[in-house]
Amino acid sequence: MIKIRHLKKVFGNKVVLKDVNLDIVDGKITYILGMSGQGKSTIIKHIVGLFKPTSGEIWVDGVPIHNADIKTLYEIRKKIGFTFQEGALFDSMNIYENVAFPLREHTKLKEKEIKRRVFETLEMVGLEANRVAYLYPHELSGGMKKRAATARAIILKPKYVLYDEPTSGLDPIISDKITRMIKNLTRNHNITSVVISHDLKETFKSADYIAFLYNGEIIEYADVEGFKNSKNPIVRAFIEGNSEIYEKIAEAV
Ligand SMILES: Nc1ncnc2c1ncn2[C@@H]1O[C@H](COP(=O)(O)OP(=O)(O)OP(=O)(O)O)[C@@H](O)[C@H]1O
Ligand SMILES: [Mg+2]
Repeated sequence: MIKIRHLKKVFGNKVVLKDVNLDIVDGKITYILGMSGQGKSTIIKHIVGLFKPTSGEIWVDGVPIHNADIKTLYEIRKKIGFTFQEGALFDSMNIYENVAFPLREHTKLKEKEIKRRVFETLEMVGLEANRVAYLYPHELSGGMKKRAATARAIILKPKYVLYDEPTSGLDPIISDKITRMIKNLTRNHNITSVVISHDLKETFKSADYIAFLYNGEIIEYADVEGFKNSKNPIVRAFIEGNSEIYEKIAEAV
């Protein structure tokens, strides 16, 4: 389980995360929603230890991440696959090398086994391995790049996969396919998924739990039905896409 307790993060004099508390349930899909700039990406960067908290604690399977040394982080990152919001593929490497990268970094597998794993994983995320393995990122569509990034995130068979905006900028059909892929990986490969999104349609299709980040805190945490019926006015304004109400409440706080 991933546990976040009283997570606070200050950049310069800007308090981005004030007091984030969240339990990520194993084997489920947890979405983290919230307005742009509220600190969603910042939360998941803390989970993988890319950021150190100003204060507070993050635990992954009982291991403290908030004060972990490099060696511990290296070990724990084998358990956590992570796709960056900005698209994390190395432009100078083909898809094969991109996806093989964590295997080369963390294992001593022979090339034959690496190839087998890379091809198998590309197929798992719905890419035709024979067609895409030797293409470069700029030769792929946006959706294919997101899938390839996912292949790289899952190649070490991690227990956790963190997706930062996996469907942003993609058309509704490809978004649906990505959502189905996340669901399939979670249900059939026993992965715990954390998904950051603004995309309510995709969220409602697949979330087991939804956490809503606002003003540095998780102000709502519920299953899909509970979230849809939230009485929190900020959550309601977000669901309804009503900026006037959202801003009026935000000003009043
Ligand atoms: N390394 C950093 N140094 C300084 N400020 C940062 C850094 N990373 C993030 N921030 C600030 O933290 C705030 C939250 O950023 P973050 O990227 O976590 O938001 P987000 O909720 O993921 O937004 P979006 O939905 O647009 O991706 C922003 O004001 C951003 O400028
Ligand atoms: Mg973000």
